[in-house]
Amino acid sequence: MGKGVLVTGGTGYIGSHTVVELIEAGYEVIIVDNLSNSDESVIEGIEAITGIRPEFVKADCRDIDALEKIFKKGKIDSIIHFAAAKAVGESVEQPLEYYHNNILSLINIISLMRRHNVPNMVFSSSCTVYGQPEVLPATEQTPRLEAESPYGNTKRICEDIIRDSVKAYGSINAIALRYFNPIGAHPSALIGELPRGVPNNLLPYVTQTAAGIREVLSIFGDDYNTPDGFCIRDYIDINDLAAAHVAALDRMLDGKMKKSFEVFNIGTGQGVSTMEIVKTFEQVNGLQLNYRITGRREGDIEAIWADPSYANEELGWYARKSLYETLRSAWKWQQRLCGIDISDE
Ligand code: NAD
Ligand code: WQD
Repeated sequence: MGKGVLVTGGTGYIGSHTVVELIEAGYEVIIVDNLSNSDESVIEGIEAITGIRPEFVKADCRDIDALEKIFKKGKIDSIIHFAAAKAVGESVEQPLEYYHNNILSLINIISLMRRHNVPNMVFSSSCTVYGQPEVLPATEQTPRLEAESPYGNTKRICEDIIRDSVKAYGSINAIALRYFNPIGAHPSALIGELPRGVPNNLLPYVTQTAAGIREVLSIFGDDYNTPDGFCIRDYIDINDLAAAHVAALDRMLDGKMKKSFEVFNIGTGQGVSTMEIVKTFEQVNGLQLNYRITGRREGDIEAIWADPSYANEELGWYARKSLYETLRSAWKWQQRLCGIDISDE
């Protein structure tokens, strides 16, 4: 099996870091992205890190004809499908856009895999499919609950579409990676997260507050039934998360899959509270963050973290970066975005 990989959504946050890992592992990458939530300049960052400029096609995964032109070039052996809209709140306001984008894009990809005999796909799923588990940590057997948002529902539906397609068509293998909370940036600070507008996620809000772009970080709720009263998540370093995709592809190409559709949790196995993130961020970066504690955010899960042992055992993949390194990289990236000289760091 060849090493050509089509990476949809490859200029996005997780996609760009994964492309770096893929190139460093010897894969030949073609990126397709409609740039709806990313910038083409990310390609420069990837090239600066790896010395290799991946092929980039600006196209929308909802447009099957545009996608097919890429498949017809015949250089694709596998696919990593990141392309999706991901803002939870926006999905509540615009459910049809989310269903249309996230589901049609996947259907197009699977249809073209069949038509062009491309057998392998890694799919970006999410711990959001677990909702609030009754028992922690969450394993892959933890029941999926009814989704809290249309976005979350698209992940559940996409997993089901993949499961049914793999079963029916026989010619497709797929691995769904259920990511926990990815944070941080490449240690070079040449690529990182590029949130548009006011960030919804914790880490970009923290770094933008530290940089003075946001006045104050609101911490949503201190009265949860957790050791310090704050919500708990499993924050996974973006570079570690990216490496999990290479491990998943290697497994497929080496013929090591035990079933033709497999699911893995990708997290650290450690639950960390929102306040622990804030305090550790302050400590490792030597600064003070302006924050206030406000009421709970509607729909927030109280606590979730992963049991990653299945990925550890089967993929040989482990989360390696410390929270210190990750929070350092997040701040370094924010400083670079703000044009602050980080050359001595
Ligand atoms: P991102 O928005 O940075 O990346 C997604 C990329 O897909 C963007 O570059 C966007 O322009 C592109 N895109 C969107 N719709 C497209 C379409 N129709 N055609 C072509 N390109 C399209 O998001 P991310 O954080 O890198 O997330 C990547 C994947 O991982 C998504 O599927 C997301 O749902 C999933 N995920 C993300 C998280 C997270 O916390 N970031 C957690 C779990 C799962
Ligand atoms: C983390 C913690 C907040 C912002 C979301 C999606 C989920 C998945 C991951 C894709 C929570 C707290 C946050 C702020 C805060 N994505 N927080 N102040 O909610 O775990 O999950 O991203 O699949 O689907 O829902 O991530 O980064 O928004 O929040 O106190 O300004 O930080 O309450 O406890 P979340 P998050």
